[in-house]
Amino acid sequence: MPESLAEFAALSVVLGRATDNSITASALARETMEGYFEIGTASGHYARKTATETFPGGEPVEVVFDGLKPGTQHYYRLSYRKPGAAVFKQRAECRFATQRARGDSFVFTLQGDSHPERPQSSHPELYARTLVTAAADHPDFHICIGDDFSVEKVRTLTPASLAGPYLLQRPFLGLVGQSAPVFLMNGNHEQASLFNYLQTDERREVAVGVQCARNRLYPTVAPDHFYSGNPESLKDIGLLKNYCAWTWGDALFVIMDNYWHSPALVDSGFGAKGKGGPSSGSDDKKNRDWWSITIGEAQYQWLKHTLETSTAKHKFVFAHHVLGSGRGGIEEASLYEWGGQGKKGEATFAQKRPGWELPIHALMVKHKVGIFFQGHDHLYCQQEKDGVIYQEVPMPSDHGYVAYNEDRYTSGKKLPSSGYLRVTVTPADVKVDYVRCFLPKDETSDTRHGMVAHSYLVKPQPSVA
Ligand SMILES: [Fe+2]
Ligand SMILES: [Fe+2]
Repeated sequence: MPESLAEFAALSVVLGRATDNSITASALARETMEGYFEIGTASGHYARKTATETFPGGEPVEVVFDGLKPGTQHYYRLSYRKPGAAVFKQRAECRFATQRARGDSFVFTLQGDSHPERPQSSHPELYARTLVTAAADHPDFHICIGDDFSVEKVRTLTPASLAGPYLLQRPFLGLVGQSAPVFLMNGNHEQASLFNYLQTDERREVAVGVQCARNRLYPTVAPDHFYSGNPESLKDIGLLKNYCAWTWGDALFVIMDNYWHSPALVDSGFGAKGKGGPSSGSDDKKNRDWWSITIGEAQYQWLKHTLETSTAKHKFVFAHHVLGSGRGGIEEASLYEWGGQGKKGEATFAQKRPGWELPIHALMVKHKVGIFFQGHDHLYCQQEKDGVIYQEVPMPSDHGYVAYNEDRYTSGKKLPSSGYLRVTVTPADVKVDYVRCFLPKDETSDTRHGMVAHSYLVKPQPSVA
């Protein structure tokens, strides 16, 4: 754990669920503390103060700031102390925004697979530096594309051990999350999946444990007056809070889930368990029936409804990966339920997905989605297919600065990690910057921390009438 994170390890704040008139601050203290927040609309001037609350050690407390003005930049300050201490200490002032009005410009940031459990390809100092740099852009959100909470290293399965990866990320995500609501996506390494949940062995325990940890330790989004999402409750978990959509300024945001609605195994099994076909959890990706992998009927119909009823100028869709498995961007986008074709180009979509108007890619084309963001492949790659940009998001933390899997991308602008994406949304266009990040020891005149390595503009396409 880098020294710079010590403060955040002792007490972290992660914002979430920003709406037109509210935001939720999740405070997590290592040892019991008490504290309050002061909130205002001008820097250094706080018109309101929340009640002093106890933050029990290891147990997150969610404080809702409500009654806020829409379309407004807010400032807040946290004061905290050990119970019984004479004086409160103050954290530096942080900012956040409520829902932007149409015509307002704003920034959001994105990180790819952070994999803090892999010291060989993820350096904590670099990850922290990337997040601090992203926070300095004052994003209205920070979106994590998945593979941020791998259970790969968890050996003994208990609710506490399964919460371990979520606790490990808190101080890191606090660096950006104290001033930008964080949105999480499940990657394959989270092992939060319907396939695991449907098993009768320890895999069910994993699925339940990790999703419960995620929803307890982060202010994840359930459907309400502001967000649409998954209304489904599962036994032992409750609301999954795994996919959601919302409108902010001139943009629609649609976060999908690749893993919670597929009865068949999507990527790798937990502990690479099982042999002989996807229904048993085999990792044999070559011989599996890829049509059995699905985002599910309910999520598909929600996606379709969300896209066709949105009047936003810019539309963004996010998922851990096309199909949740495999490698590449547009290379996979013509396949199975994403693209409609089988491996040999056979047009079996109508037979395999009765009642689905179009494959997912064609649905995005029809409804003028500007950018589909994905992760999983650990590099930067920007491609385009039928007017939709496929943007692979790089790792924030890879101190080897590698473009993993670049051979699986046969076209597009490819660059190595590390860094994050800064997306600037204006009514006229969307600008995507790839901001490279380096450890101080690795900086040269060609490798400057914070340099923009690639940049492009996306103009809104006229909507279908
Ligand atoms: Fe990954
Ligand atoms: Fe992945």
